[in-house]
Amino acid sequence: MTEHSGGLADIIAGDTAICTVGKQGCGLSYRGYAIEDLAARACFEEVAYLLLYGELPSVGQLDVYRQRLSRLRELPEALKTQLEMLPANSHPMDVLRSGCSLLGCIEPEHSFDEQYNIAERLLATLPGILLYWYCFHQHGKRIDTAAETAGLAGSFLHLLYGKPPSDVQQRALDISLILYAEHEFNASTFAARVTASTLADFYSCITSAIGTLRGPLHGGANEATMAFIADLADPDAAEEAVLAALASHRKVMGFGHRVYRESDPRNALIKAWSKQLADDSGDSRLFAVSERIEQVMWREKKLFPNLDFYSASAYYFLAIPVSLYTPVFVCARMAGWAAHVMEQRQHNRLIRPAADYIGPEERPFVPLEQRQ
Ligand code: COA
Repeated sequence: MTEHSGGLADIIAGDTAICTVGKQGCGLSYRGYAIEDLAARACFEEVAYLLLYGELPSVGQLDVYRQRLSRLRELPEALKTQLEMLPANSHPMDVLRSGCSLLGCIEPEHSFDEQYNIAERLLATLPGILLYWYCFHQHGKRIDTAAETAGLAGSFLHLLYGKPPSDVQQRALDISLILYAEHEFNASTFAARVTASTLADFYSCITSAIGTLRGPLHGGANEATMAFIADLADPDAAEEAVLAALASHRKVMGFGHRVYRESDPRNALIKAWSKQLADDSGDSRLFAVSERIEQVMWREKKLFPNLDFYSASAYYFLAIPVSLYTPVFVCARMAGWAAHVMEQRQHNRLIRPAADYIGPEERPFVPLEQRQ
């Protein structure tokens, strides 16, 4: 055995042609395209296509792709029945994890030849699974998840609001989905790859990933951020709350990163949208509170906001319920997970690291009747 690293920090666990994170000269890129260009000039479906197929689509390919995803949004009746039976107070991440798993029972993967179809089916249905359950339990409505033909961002907001979103709202969510779509060997993607490396089916890989994304050190950080900032009355109260958290050695969610050292390149992009949405809404509190937290965290700890921090306020201004923040992340990251599962399968070797044993020395077995 050679290297030992807590949390596998800085360990290169495999090759990928999908994404670079903080690499010298490339920054964050998907299939060689800079995140700044993708966020400025592409839509989420274009990015999903790029991640899955390796190249940006032509106009015709994108059109066909969007139509295909839109046609795949219908949920099986058996799945809707199961979603109705889940508790109304389930965490929506548990609903997505279960919904993914249930779809795997209803439409199982029989052969890896079906993997593109399944990836696209999941991309198309995860938002509907979430919103079907949500609208049924919150408003007593059985929504038609296939009614909307817009892209993921537009149809998601339309189903959530019950009316079409504005262009700004739609574009803000679309960009957030692009930023969330992929991030190399993060914990949930790695979980998906570990599961894929056992040659398990596609749904098992994605179910593992959803469960892994749920924690507050990973995707759950956007919800945890909102919980922290929601009730802070003004920037001074925010400063006080941050100093109190740091003094008691509590983490401030939405800050820090395992790979980035000085900044998260996605932060400037989502922060600009959070600011625009704040200005449009006339709310002068939440963005100011967030900026003060950013200043204090840098001053006190040299820690910078990651994507989750300003996503929280952006989603707040988009009137997305807080419990749906991490599930929206799932809907976007589905594209990256799918690309990684396919890449893992293409060059597969079972992922099975070793551990340093730190338990008791070898000792004689004591029969049950002789134990104290
Ligand atoms: N708030 C306060 N302190 C933080 C912090 C945060 N958000 N993130 C890291 N630190 C501190 C740790 O307390 C630790 O300090 P110490 O050395 O004095 O004990 C040090 O920075 C290293 O942190 P550690 O958790 O060991 O780094 P990591 O590389 O294992 O973790 C994260 C990376 C992302 C898990 C971590 O920064 C974190 O928990 N952030 C908050 C959750 C979050 O936003 N997650 C989304 C990531 S995109």
